[in-house]
Amino acid sequence: MILLKNIYKAWDGTPVLNNISLDIEEGKIFCLVGMSGSGKSVTTKLILGLEKQDSGQVIIDGKDTSGFSEVQWRETLGKFGVVFQNAALFSSLNVFENIGIRLLEEKRKPKPVIREMVADSLVKVGLKPEIMNKYPDELSGGMRKRVGIARAIIHKPKYLIYDEPTTGLDPVNANLIDKLILDIDLEEAGITSIVITHDFHTVAKLNSHIVMIHDHRIYFSGTTSAFMNSQDGVIRTFLSR
Ligand SMILES: Nc1ncnc2c1ncn2[C@@H]1O[C@H](COP(=O)(O)OP(=O)(O)OP(=O)(O)O)[C@@H](O)[C@H]1O
Ligand SMILES: [Mg+2]
Repeated sequence: MILLKNIYKAWDGTPVLNNISLDIEEGKIFCLVGMSGSGKSVTTKLILGLEKQDSGQVIIDGKDTSGFSEVQWRETLGKFGVVFQNAALFSSLNVFENIGIRLLEEKRKPKPVIREMVADSLVKVGLKPEIMNKYPDELSGGMRKRVGIARAIIHKPKYLIYDEPTTGLDPVNANLIDKLILDIDLEEAGITSIVITHDFHTVAKLNSHIVMIHDHRIYFSGTTSAFMNSQDGVIRTFLSR
């Protein structure tokens, strides 16, 4: 379980997150939404230890991360898979190397085993293992996104974070990614999916707990249907864009 307790984060005296508390339950989909610049990515960075809060606590699996040593961080980050915005693939590496990068660097498994693991994760995201030898430039945007997801799930993470998984995709590919998020959630037993998005189509399809950050605070916390049916002006504006 991931808990954020009364998080305050400011830059140059300007608050970005003001008293944010989140409760990300295990084995479910959690959706974090908000307009551009509302602090969604900063929230993920705090969870992953890439930024430090000014006050408040981030608690992962019962442990307060504020005093974590490097070893504790490494151990904790091993539980996470992150699908970065724009897939963030290395253009000089082929699909096999992009997905297997950590396993190849660790050198703990023989290459044929890694090849099989990469093939498995490609199949899981609906791609043919044959594309292993292709380079990111040779793939469509939708395929690159899938490769990014394959890279995140190969280590069987407990927590899978998607940062804007459908941004920049056409509606057909965006729909396919939404479906893939649901499929992975079903197939990877016990996985906790954290979906950060400002795509209300994604929000509508993922039947999950939704938290909306607005004006640096938690503006809404509740179910998909309560969110979609809300008559609140700010939420209606978010949903109508
Ligand atoms: N390192 C930093 N230094 C100063 N300000 C920052 C820093 N990182 C983020 N911010 C500010 O924090 C605010 C929230 O940024 P964040 O990237 O979390 O927004 P977001 O909700 O992810 O937006 P988007 O939907 O566009 O991705 C922005 O105003 C941004 O300028
Ligand atoms: Mg962001």
